[in-house]
Amino acid sequence: ALESGIDGWLRYAELPASLCAKQHQYSSILVLDEFQTSPVYTAAKELQDGLKRILGQSLELSFDITAAQQPSIIVGTVDAFSKLGVDPPSEAFKADGFYLNTQLTNASVHIMGESERGALYGTFEFLMRLAQGNFDPVSIVSNPSVSIRWVNQWDNLDGSIERGYAGPSIFFRDGEVVEDMTRIAQFARLLSSIRLNAVVVNNVNANPKLFSEKNLRGLQRIADTMRPWGIRIGISLYFDSPREFGGLPTADPLDPDVISWWQDITAKVFEKVPDLVGYTIKANSEGQPGPLTYKRTLADGANMFARALQPYGNAIVMYRAFVYNHHLDESVWTNDRANAAVDYFKDLDGEFEDNVICQIKFGPIDFQVREPPSPLFANLRKTKFVIETQVAQEYLGQQSHYVYIAPLWKEILDFDMRIDGQPSAVRDIVCGHTNVLNIGSDTTWIGHHLSLSNLYAYGRMTWDPLSDPVDMIQDWSRLTFSLDQTVVDTITKIAMESWPTYENHSGNLGIQTLCDIIYTHYGPSPGSQDGNGWGQFTRATATSIGVDRTVATGSGNAGQYPPEVAAIFEDIDKTPDELLLWFHHVPYTHCLKSGKTVIQHFYDAHYEGAANAQTFPKEWSKLKGLIDDHRFNHVAFKLEYQAGHALVWRDSVNNFYLAKCRIPDEKNRVSNY
Ligand code: GCU
Repeated sequence: ALESGIDGWLRYAELPASLCAKQHQYSSILVLDEFQTSPVYTAAKELQDGLKRILGQSLELSFDITAAQQPSIIVGTVDAFSKLGVDPPSEAFKADGFYLNTQLTNASVHIMGESERGALYGTFEFLMRLAQGNFDPVSIVSNPSVSIRWVNQWDNLDGSIERGYAGPSIFFRDGEVVEDMTRIAQFARLLSSIRLNAVVVNNVNANPKLFSEKNLRGLQRIADTMRPWGIRIGISLYFDSPREFGGLPTADPLDPDVISWWQDITAKVFEKVPDLVGYTIKANSEGQPGPLTYKRTLADGANMFARALQPYGNAIVMYRAFVYNHHLDESVWTNDRANAAVDYFKDLDGEFEDNVICQIKFGPIDFQVREPPSPLFANLRKTKFVIETQVAQEYLGQQSHYVYIAPLWKEILDFDMRIDGQPSAVRDIVCGHTNVLNIGSDTTWIGHHLSLSNLYAYGRMTWDPLSDPVDMIQDWSRLTFSLDQTVVDTITKIAMESWPTYENHSGNLGIQTLCDIIYTHYGPSPGSQDGNGWGQFTRATATSIGVDRTVATGSGNAGQYPPEVAAIFEDIDKTPDELLLWFHHVPYTHCLKSGKTVIQHFYDAHYEGAANAQTFPKEWSKLKGLIDDHRFNHVAFKLEYQAGHALVWRDSVNNFYLAKCRIPDEKNRVSNY
């Protein structure tokens, strides 16, 4: 059903007759590929389905190239088009790019892919235009910014999902790959429509039982299901698998038996999944074993996997830079988790095999509501790296709140690192994107209908990192809910206010999301940041707060950035207010650029954020009757909860700091300690 959420933004709701009247009747869909497992064939089926649903036109698939004379929709690769005598576009094609031409004199539509996958992307582009009532003639070439456009599911073999808030895994249950591939195919369709090309299917905290014969066959079925949608799969590996699964006495990456064990297991994996995209490795992180366990370097570990993969074409090792000591001693002023990635990886630059890519979280800590970009982006000069973001709202309300994250990603991607004094926006120096995604078996996919907008925006930003968050949410709203302008405007307003709102009531001035740090990462717990080894310190005392990351008196983290950026973060007067407490430890009475003190800003921002959250259910109520009741009610309930929880956030955080510093709120709102 259209309201179930399963189709996400690919609902293809029937267009109103007034819009349909303007468009052409096509005679058929000409498919320049007969293999049913080819993405070109998938594209043709999608066209058939989409045109039926959007325009009410039932078209036959034709494989007869003489039909090319009729006004038909022709879909295929550039090579297949050349056999029809149709030239490639004059603009350069990049891998997986597409050319969509609806301006032909015989009223045909050409959907030409640089590859089979490109043909599928062009098809979705065409259909999503129609679904928005957009019949403007186009002749466009569209190319991806990067070739690595992945997502990482953190699914466990038992069917649970780490940081998952939308029901059990669609991939695994009871230790094994599921039998029924229906949801996996539906998921592949969504990913493909936003031009993502790979999914790592299991948790980075990986289980070696993934290598059981049965699970290898299961991985094969997953790969076979997703391949027609142009999606490749990857897997996360447990570093100690040779010991725990293979029965070897060690997992030392330089041990010949260990090396050949990984070669053998890799051969078995590739026998089942010949186009595996690669291995993702979380090692020496949060209790995971890794090369350091065996007194080897991180590069030794990464290179062992890289060499095992080299016989298999373009397979990649995604080696996560999320390596840090989670037993950090807070009593040492200069101890700083934010330094860890550069400390561990900078000196290894140049020591990695070519097919190793470093996977770097967008900020130095962990998906907080506000962080500067990771300084590691500016410290790897010879090693390729991707940026890791998170659609999963782990620290952003866990899909019980709605936070539209595209504006946060955009700030990071647009940040100019000034490497060697040259323009070096993060978006231009990464070689790709990956994203921690937590879709589950829930029909909303993600636990909150609005939160799926983050997945949609993520896909579009990987293709074109200059994509505008407003344009994306508007398109998404039209495709997901309705073409009605009130619907589009209301969702856009809520979405664009959601990140500042959440930041205001959860943790501002760069102090991080003040949630429970020890386990849930949900709900206010500003006292939990300090007094443990996780390193998400605020260093709040009775008189002062913030982490001194300056070179002059602190951890030196500001100095991990290139000089022009370091000069800003090192200097309290130049550091923007929103990152003040990230880089500086100041009295609560320190005066911000706004003229307010830090503590008054805390009080005010928490009131503003919570007050703004109260407007969301009211805004949403305008949509009653404009969208289906089912989804209207689901979102209304969630936004009502969000508004209530924002008040809890406000009062918990404000009361905590009032109790700590005893400086009254100028407006006398915060009082009960
Ligand atoms: C966070 C998250 C963990 C996860 C880790 C990672 O710390 O809370 O659940 O395992 O990141 O990215 O590896």
